[in-house]
Amino acid sequence: MMNFVSRLLTRGKPAFSEARPADAAAIAAVHGASFQRGWGEDEVYRLLVGSNVVAHRATSSGKLIGFILSRLAAGEAEILSVAIAPGWRGRALARPLLDLHLRRLAGLGVRSVFLEVGEHNAPAGRLYRRAGFREVGRRQGYYERGATALVLRRDLG
Ligand SMILES: CC(C)(COP(=O)(O)OP(=O)(O)OC[C@H]1O[C@@H](n2cnc3c(N)ncnc32)[C@H](O)[C@@H]1OP(=O)(O)O)[C@@H](O)C(=O)NCCC(=O)NCCS
Repeated sequence: MMNFVSRLLTRGKPAFSEARPADAAAIAAVHGASFQRGWGEDEVYRLLVGSNVVAHRATSSGKLIGFILSRLAAGEAEILSVAIAPGWRGRALARPLLDLHLRRLAGLGVRSVFLEVGEHNAPAGRLYRRAGFREVGRRQGYYERGATALVLRRDLG
């Protein structure tokens, strides 16, 4: 009875876990809805099976509603992409997803995490700054249409 009640109460509540190669299609769909240049399912699959890639997902009632994905090299990680499905944004889901991801990276011995973010991407900028990322560089004209990317860094541990 308690199991039934607790299942009922947590139904639809977002959960955070490691992403698997089987999530490739769902990740490609959320990515495509979030960025101008979408990733194909094959591209995502190849990343997910890579030994140097770490990925996490947010799910609700078994449906993938967000992801974050990093590539590791020589004690550093680069966050390649993070996105929450459009209908789920603004509910502070990215923060616990990022926190879980950073804890996993730290557990794998990663010392510094880098990423690029558009200088006018306010939600992403706030998310990263709240999580302790600081600007360490700028890449002018990095994006299509000439927008500037900020390079952010956070040291772990
Ligand atoms: C960036 C993204 C992952 C954030 O996910 P989210 O779960 O919606 O994030 P939150 O609800 O925690 O909001 C993050 C912060 O942005 C703020 N925010 C949300 N929408 C905003 C908007 N339209 N303008 C300004 N700030 C906004 C929130 O208030 C929060 O700041 P706070 O913690 O200081 O209050 C999500 O917006 C997204 O998927 N965007 C498209 C993909 C993308 O740009 N990814 C990042 C590439 S580097």
